[in-house]
Amino acid sequence: MQQHEQAEDFLEDFATMSGFGATPGGGVERQAGSAADHETRAWFAGWLERAGFEVRHDAISNQFGLLELVPGAPYVLVGSHLDSQPLAGRFDGAYGVLAAAHAAREVARRVRGGSLQPACNLAVVNWFNEEGSRFTPSMMGSSVLTGKLPLETALAATDRAGVSVAQAIAEPGDALDLTPPPVAAYAEIHIEQGRGLEESGTTIGLVDRTWAASKYRIVVHGEQSHTGSTVMADRRDALYGAALVIVAARELTDELPEGMLHSSVSELELAPNSPVTVARLVEINLDLRSPDEAVLERANALLEERLAAIEERARVTIERRLTHQWGLLAYQPEGVELARSAAAALGLTHAPTMTVAGHDSTNMKDVAPTVMLFVPSIEGISHNEGERTSDEDSVAGVALLTEVTARLVAGELGSTAAFTPGG
Ligand code: GLV
Ligand code: MN
Ligand code: MN
Repeated sequence: MQQHEQAEDFLEDFATMSGFGATPGGGVERQAGSAADHETRAWFAGWLERAGFEVRHDAISNQFGLLELVPGAPYVLVGSHLDSQPLAGRFDGAYGVLAAAHAAREVARRVRGGSLQPACNLAVVNWFNEEGSRFTPSMMGSSVLTGKLPLETALAATDRAGVSVAQAIAEPGDALDLTPPPVAAYAEIHIEQGRGLEESGTTIGLVDRTWAASKYRIVVHGEQSHTGSTVMADRRDALYGAALVIVAARELTDELPEGMLHSSVSELELAPNSPVTVARLVEINLDLRSPDEAVLERANALLEERLAAIEERARVTIERRLTHQWGLLAYQPEGVELARSAAAALGLTHAPTMTVAGHDSTNMKDVAPTVMLFVPSIEGISHNEGERTSDEDSVAGVALLTEVTARLVAGELGSTAAFTPGG
């Protein structure tokens, strides 16, 4: 297929795919295991089957499109995630899954046409629940595949309504019976979700490291009482305690070198959540990230001090549980170099970059040679219906992922099994 045909075809499919779970503001809402997620997955399964892939699902509902090119050889995996945050943009994850499918289909054509000698098999993957908005933790499907999260723990995670992952993935009746094949290498493309590429006029980010992250579930325990009649000195107000935690998390960023710490409290539940009753319990999610592990360690220590002080000041007790963390482990330099050389061959401007957000490649890079690519996000908008990437950058990314996938299938980063799931 000519590059411009691939480009037009991609944009048409992307517009179709963006119709699933579409929101009035031009975004999508397809939280993991929701009806809209299942509809998108069903449409995507049809696409893969028409393109000659065998569609299978593993026990955590990662969706694979398998293509055997070299019987018995390990697989190059290429993909991202189709699930979204609530009221999200249409690009985060979905762009990378569809780009992977188009890249893989083109690579298969080249193999069939004799212009590419494969050393590996090829699979497109749509990872289950990368976002972690409905079920914690994020990057769930790739965490299970890489053995970082026990399958049983993932299946038992529940949403706010008490629905478990096991229930949410059983609904469409897909057989969850694939044992994922041995992996030779992994590739993923994603929107940058920041402004770096746009501001430097660069088309492609070659991701070489992740920011480190620590995510906490924090439960503030107080005592339920009357909002009017309880004298102030007697109060043990969990919501007041939580408010102090929220402010402390934000103010930690002022105590560390500028730009070196991002912190948020982004989710809050309170009981009894009633107008005339002081809250007895508040649960929040607190997220700390840094491009420097020492800074993150300092932030974690400062947070501990702040929580202890808040317990005293608000007369509450604060439970904290680290629910998810990752370090600053580098992507393999050979993968970054492969991507650089492929971008140069296509005449695309490129620069090394770090990823602040977590991705399924954050997990995969720890077990197999991994290539992670970014395309620019307009104004860095992300986790918002206004998230955009230009058509020109979108299709440039698809062309580059095609080139990268071709090189991986040819065995440029090795053709032996770097990792065997469950092995
Ligand atoms: C993704 O899972 C993130 O937390 O960035
Ligand atoms: Mn994503
Ligand atoms: Mn996201």
